[in-house]
Amino acid sequence: MKANKISIVILVAAAIVLYSCALRKSEPIVGKTFTAKNMQVQHGQELYMKHCQKCHPGGEGGLGPALNSTPAPGFLKKLQVRAGLGTMPSFNHQEIAKEDLKDIGKYLKALKHF
Ligand code: HEC
Repeated sequence: MKANKISIVILVAAAIVLYSCALRKSEPIVGKTFTAKNMQVQHGQELYMKHCQKCHPGGEGGLGPALNSTPAPGFLKKLQVRAGLGTMPSFNHQEIAKEDLKDIGKYLKALKHF
């Protein structure tokens, strides 16, 4: 009897985890092409393609989670880039300068409202 209760708890926990993962997933963008509205966003996009695209393809989830639908505020995203987390590598100031990271942030923001 006791073992049954435990497996129900585990099942419910697994369902909650799966459900929250599904919520984080963004809808695929169909028939829309992104156009950068200014130089900073365009620069950010170029840097993004170089450093982030392979794990966060087009802002969508890949190896890393989707960035175009994350509720995380800008400063937290920058912190994540500097500190890294789990599989995500960290990027120091030589790899991505402060101004460049700002532009990546602008690009991500533009993607969100795209
Ligand atoms: C080698 C693959 C990889 C690269 C390259 C990469 N990331 Fe990530 N990223 C990840 C993974 C994996 C996670 C999830 C980490 C975790 O939660 O353990 C993540 C998480 C994040 C998060 C947190 C999202 C959230 O909602 O929790 C942000 C923001 C982020 N990445 C931004 C970037 C940016 C910006 C770049 C480029 C400068 C980048 N990443 C490059 C793999 C990568």
